[in-house]
Amino acid sequence: MASNIKRIGVLTSGGDAPGMNAAVRAVVRACIYYDIEVFGIYKGYDGLINGNIEQLFVRSVSNILSRGGTFLLSARSQEFRTKAGRKKAFENFKSHNLDALVVVGGDGSFTGADIFSQEFDVPVIGVPGTIDNDLAGTDFTIGFDTACNTAREAIDKIRDTASSHERLFFVEVMGRDTGFIAVNSAIGGGAVAMIVPEHNWTLEKLIRRLQKGASNQKASNIVVVAEGCQLGNAYDIAGQVKERLDYFDIRVTVLGHLQRGGSPTTMDRVLASRLGVAAVEGLKQGQSKVMVGIINNQIAYTNIHEAVKTEKRLDSEEFRVAKILSI
Ligand code: F6P
Repeated sequence: MASNIKRIGVLTSGGDAPGMNAAVRAVVRACIYYDIEVFGIYKGYDGLINGNIEQLFVRSVSNILSRGGTFLLSARSQEFRTKAGRKKAFENFKSHNLDALVVVGGDGSFTGADIFSQEFDVPVIGVPGTIDNDLAGTDFTIGFDTACNTAREAIDKIRDTASSHERLFFVEVMGRDTGFIAVNSAIGGGAVAMIVPEHNWTLEKLIRRLQKGASNQKASNIVVVAEGCQLGNAYDIAGQVKERLDYFDIRVTVLGHLQRGGSPTTMDRVLASRLGVAAVEGLKQGQSKVMVGIINNQIAYTNIHEAVKTEKRLDSEEFRVAKILSI
């Protein structure tokens, strides 16, 4: 069912992710290509609430494809969580004569988009932009590949010093409640183990893995720990291991927000470009309350609520491979 959309607003929300700029560029250029006026909303939903909105043109998005962060700025809006905040947002939406909204963000941003769309019957489409890769309805989210490369590069560097001193390092990576960055950066960086929030890894299991390596003359060890693990954070786990295996010289590195910055990889730029165009085309076709993703290299529209609520599972095959290679 074709829609009659003439003006679209676009915003970036939640934790920034490399490739968000590329996604906004794609939304803006696709709108202009299809004769739709496009408006940038600054600072996520806060910009919609405060009317921080301006029209974007084809050259407004020049030279941003390669830049990390988001030129539209981002926020985790507390006010948009309230009905009064969303009402203000809707008033600005109407006063700017917007017909639809494109939200580039992660699960929290999509939950807000879903509620807003239902409350005010506004066409909304989500573009998955989060380093966490924790959204169903797409194989990968924008920023995930760049974050994995950043974490893996850091692990490579830590490996240099770990080997020189024959040390055991615990490297903590981001991912809030999910281990996608941990798994990819651990396999890519040759880690001896990865500990993720989704799995109930015991200390015993980790000890056995480390002992096995030691008996095989493994000189340096890197254990990748995702945030939010059941065993504790990287410092907690390092402490527990030291108590059991005091012959290890242990260090801890928490990578933190550096994983969110940097120029997006080619993978992320292409993903963001495809999804930005598909968001506009989806709205033109009458799609609403969906997230646009890519599954098996095909554009797919998934109900936004399902994209957030459906658990995206880690691939057990990757754990099997990592175990084989950890000896
Ligand atoms: O959702 C992206 C993310 O980077 C998570 O991996 C991390 O737990 C969280 O954001 C950190 O949020 P903040 O930047 O608000 O501290």
